[in-house]
Amino acid sequence: MLQHMNEINPNDQINMYPPTRFMGSKNKLLSSIWAATEDLHFNSVLDLFSGSGAVGYMYKCHGKAVACNDYMAMAATFSKAMIENNSVRLNEEAINKILSSGDNTDHFVADTFSGLYFSDEDNNLIDNIRHNISMLDDPYEKAIAMTALIRAIMKKRPRGIFTYTGNRYDDGRKDLRKSLEQLFREAAVAVNEAVFDNRKVNLSSWHDSLDLDLPHYDLIYMDPPYYTPKSDNEYVRRYHFVEGLARNWDGVEIQENTKTKKFKSYPTPFSTLSGAEEAFDHLFEKYKSSILVISYSSNSQPDKEQMLRILSKYKNNVRVTPVEHTYSFGTTKNVKRNNVQEYIFVGY
Ligand SMILES: C[S@@+](CC[C@H](N)C(=O)[O-])C[C@H]1O[C@@H](n2cnc3c(N)ncnc32)[C@H](O)[C@@H]1O
Repeated sequence: MLQHMNEINPNDQINMYPPTRFMGSKNKLLSSIWAATEDLHFNSVLDLFSGSGAVGYMYKCHGKAVACNDYMAMAATFSKAMIENNSVRLNEEAINKILSSGDNTDHFVADTFSGLYFSDEDNNLIDNIRHNISMLDDPYEKAIAMTALIRAIMKKRPRGIFTYTGNRYDDGRKDLRKSLEQLFREAAVAVNEAVFDNRKVNLSSWHDSLDLDLPHYDLIYMDPPYYTPKSDNEYVRRYHFVEGLARNWDGVEIQENTKTKKFKSYPTPFSTLSGAEEAFDHLFEKYKSSILVISYSSNSQPDKEQMLRILSKYKNNVRVTPVEHTYSFGTTKNVKRNNVQEYIFVGY
């Protein structure tokens, strides 16, 4: 049974969002982001860099009309399945059909990525699932199935990333021992369970945030890649395989000379300091009639003072909430932690 907004408890519903390892995901900061904004009056939210979709979903659970945007097809697929979609679920028959084998696959994954990330058997199953998803008519069923496939593949991959080939980072997780079919079934159930109706029209959008053109939203949440001179914040480099799946490699060219068979990263101003400063200024000006909420980290640039200066050009009231946050990376046996403060800037 689908639940409706007047029957749900926002905090219980937020926990229904399938947990994610997406880089920079704010799933551990959702209550802080809500606490930083709940006193303000707003009915609609635009999550401009939605990534895993966790923040947009949190606001959907609080009854807001939500639009999620990201320039990655995989992110737009997640938000189509679980944010824009208020009612469609994938039933067991459909899941079985998607997993059934057929002769019509294009063998693209099996041919292109042979020996790189998964066994031949798994590559063939991925091709089958891709083909069967392409035969579905309903755009939300398609999005649920593709979200489930991406989630299953990320779980089957040590560290969940595609910057290396082979299996050298096997971290002993139980998921790595499960079959791809089982992971797909589990993911489809988890995605299904996240679907609910908040009685609002919600939207998924797949665009560059800098030239997005949507009607007015009361609150704009911005969580772009964090720029630091020392580390790279490249999403496509890490996730090219699942991003390729989400867009069926349409419109991208695989760099055949690379070992990983990745394609070119999408350009973003957030890969340089001057680019990030200009982009923030541009976005704050463009959305100055809305409440502006920005997540940024204390070890990134522009720094806190610069951000406050840019935000104050367009907003009379500016406040910042620091939240202690630990990013973990490494294997389960050898976890390294990086303590930073996450800032939540609010201009209103
Ligand atoms: C820090 S992550 C967002 C994480 C998200 N808030 C979450 O909780 O999962 C940054 C996102 O910005 C996206 N991105 C980077 N540059 C972009 C651009 N110019 N337009 C749209 N999205 C962009 C990336 O694809 C990535 O998903």
